[in-house]
Formats: sequence, structure tokens, C-alpha cells
Amino acid sequence: MLKAENIHKSYNGLNVLKGIDLSIDKEEVVSIVGTSGAGKSTLLHILGTLDVPDEGKVLFDDVEVSSLNQKKMALFRNERIGFIFQFHNLFPEFTAIENVCIPALIRGDSDADKRARHLLEILGLSGREEHKPSELSGGEQQRVSVARALINEPSVVFADEPSGNLDSQSADDLHQLFFDLRNKIGQTFVIVTHNMELAGMADRKLEIKDGIITT
Ligand SMILES: Nc1ncnc2c1ncn2[C@@H]1O[C@H](COP(=O)(O)OP(=O)(O)OP(=O)(O)O)[C@@H](O)[C@H]1O
Ligand SMILES: [Mg+2]
Repeated sequence: MLKAENIHKSYNGLNVLKGIDLSIDKEEVVSIVGTSGAGKSTLLHILGTLDVPDEGKVLFDDVEVSSLNQKKMALFRNERIGFIFQFHNLFPEFTAIENVCIPALIRGDSDADKRARHLLEILGLSGREEHKPSELSGGEQQRVSVARALINEPSVVFADEPSGNLDSQSADDLHQLFFDLRNKIGQTFVIVTHNMELAGMADRKLEIKDGIITT
């Protein structure tokens, strides 16, 4: 479903990615590990169309996304890709339900409210719909951001250290949630993590070292 071919990326002469090849199947949960500065976030941003490679291709179902113009790329991202970051990046002035609906409103989907409520219910957030992020626990905030990532039924969800900011119980719950979502709705996940337990639970663990994938 998702393929990267010979991805290179440098920043001011620093060669971060030196020929990454990978392929992710539908309904897979793949983890990406590596030391700090190894290029994990850089790779995730390139796979998720938030950044472009200097060389190489990213293909989704044979669409070469790395060659789309900015407008088409933004549309593709909105429709096909979900993101979860270490810090939830929710809008503080909006409620949980409003935050979840934003990516759907952007694409002009008026049916979002019902689906958003259903997602929040699945994620154990019934009764928290009208809370603002500051009125939610860290684990709850992160589950709202999972709902937001899922609202447009993306082909793949990219998560960059999603539990990096959570206590160990909330982290375990979040990790379990990823696998539940894969099992229940067939969601594909690519997860960058320093959490070796999570990395080991994945169907496949990829390690970035010296700019290439070594496993
Ligand atoms: N926009 C940028 N400009 C210049 N250098 C950058 C930029 N983004 C990343 N880098 C550099 O590229 C290297 C890889 O960064 P990246 O964020 O991908 O690492 P990482 O594997 O995600 O690390 P961590 O585990 O600490 O999050 C680092 O040395 C970083 O300083
Ligand atoms: Mg990173």
C-alpha cells in the first residue's frame, strides 16, 4: 500500500537519510526505532507528505505523492493520512469534539459530528466531548488526537512518539488501542517510538541506523 524508494534527505550538508527503502502493507502495524537524531521524524514527515525528499519516491497505491504539487499534496494528506504527535497539538480553545471534527470540516464533510462522537465513544471518551484539552488528562488528550487522526478514515496513521509524554499506564493503554483499532477497523499504523515494548509488539520493527534501514 505504501512504498518508499531510495529516500535521501540532507540538512545543510548533514546526510540524514541515505537511501531508505520500505514497504508497508494494509492493516500492518510497523514500528520505527533508532537513536535520537537517526532521522525517524524526518522519515515519518516524508512518508506523511509533510516534507519532501531530496531524492527518491513515496508511493501510495502507486500514486507518486512526492511529485504532487503543494495543493494536491495537502488534499491527499487530508483525505488519506492521519497524524499523532508526541504532544497532542489539539487546539486549546476548541472542545474535544470540535478538535476531532476539524480535519473533516476542512474537506467539507458535514456528517462529521456523528462519526466524531462515535469515535470518542470507542476511545473511551464518552462524556468528555465538550471538554477543552486543558480539562482532560494527558492520556485523554492523546486519545482525542487519535480520534482526530481517524476522523477521515485515513489509509495510514503515522505516529511520532505518541506515548513519549504519557505515564506508563496511559502509554500501555494507548498502545493497546492501536492494536485494537487494527483488529477492529483494519487501521494501518506506522509508529516511531523509543518504547521498546511497543516497538516489539508491532508486526515489524524497522531500525534506522546511519541513514538506512538495518532491519
Ligand atoms: N529542519 C531541519 N533543519 C536542519 N536540521 C534538521 C532539521 N530537521 C532535522 N534535522 C536534523 O536531522 C537529524 C535527524 O533529525 P530527526 O528529527 O529526524 O531525528 P529523530 O530520529 O526523530 O530523533 P529523536 O528521537 O530525538 O526525535 C538531526 O541531527 C536533526 O538535527
Ligand atoms: Mg523525532
